Amino acid sequence: MIRSRIVGTGQCLPEKILTNHDLEKMMDTSDEWIRQRTGIGQRHLAAPGQGASDLGAPAAREALENAGIEPGEVDFIVCCTTTPDYLFPATACLIQDKIGAKQAAAFDVSAACSAFVYGLATADAFIRCGMYKTVLVVGAEVLTNRLNWKRRDTAVLFGDGAGAVVLRAEEDTGHGVLTTYLGANGAHSEILTVPSGGSVKPFDESPDDEERVAIYMKGPELFRQAVAAFSLAAEKALEGTGVSVDDLDLFVPHQANTRIIYSASDRVGLDRGKVYVNIERVGNTTAASIPLALDDAMKEGRIKTGSHVLLAAFGAGLTWASALVRW
Ligand code: COA
Repeated sequence: MIRSRIVGTGQCLPEKILTNHDLEKMMDTSDEWIRQRTGIGQRHLAAPGQGASDLGAPAAREALENAGIEPGEVDFIVCCTTTPDYLFPATACLIQDKIGAKQAAAFDVSAACSAFVYGLATADAFIRCGMYKTVLVVGAEVLTNRLNWKRRDTAVLFGDGAGAVVLRAEEDTGHGVLTTYLGANGAHSEILTVPSGGSVKPFDESPDDEERVAIYMKGPELFRQAVAAFSLAAEKALEGTGVSVDDLDLFVPHQANTRIIYSASDRVGLDRGKVYVNIERVGNTTAASIPLALDDAMKEGRIKTGSHVLLAAFGAGLTWASALVRW
């Protein structure tokens, strides 16, 4: 039996940092409110003209270097993003070119904040069916140019960045991706959306530039849905594996909001000390948040060979997803 194993991680954050105190000067908000309600202290901001692929490519390169794998060995690149460089071509193709992965097939996955786990599940399926041996899964976002800076409910939440993992096919030794679980409910698509810029409301229809391409969110409703979906996803990932909540070494959730993360982990019965949180430094980076957190956790020595790591995400769609990995 073949299994896919995560053999390298990497990340890239843009240089510029926007703190909560900077936001206090731009809108009616406070560091105290943002920290209490979300856990966020600062976020990184891409430079003008810097696209998701400009962040995704360095993250992918670092993941390959950490894995000791040459770009030419990559068979397939999945880029997970809600903020692609262009409507088309896929951002994965641009990353393929930038890192020189000439042999790789490439496409994008759109599942908002759940996209990285959707991408991981896709890569894992391709590897287990024998089609590919080496796959890069990249989460890359430039969300700050999708914000209406007059809307304090959304502007304080999101940040830019990229994270990447390299998966490699291995004969099963009990290590690697053990399970993946994906879910969706399109009936709630209006809770979190960028309403314009697609085929329904193209770019030239609204008189207000900031409204038409910005993130729109029903925060409190999303909060309720998120806690329930996070808990479900976490439980589903463990189902039938013989791995219990107590066996988990680390829970790496999508970094949406510390209150959502801890409400969900409490529901599942997970010790808070095993929950990895880096949202204070990076904000919500949507599809980039889990691979960024994984790379941080690796660099801090929180994940070791044999560690049971649970990933869970929730986002627009609505979508939710989880994976259990034995490192
Ligand atoms: N600064 C100060 N006050 C703010 C604010 C800000 N940045 N944003 C909203 N407020 C105000 C509201 O206007 C409201 O004021 P009012 O009572 O006078 O009307 C008050 O704070 C409470 O607003 P509410 O939206 O009920 O707050 P909340 O406790 O639900 O927190 C969120 C708001 C956005 C932090 C919270 O709903 C949330 O995290 N939702 C999920 C968001 C998310 O994770 N999105 C990504 C999903 S992957």
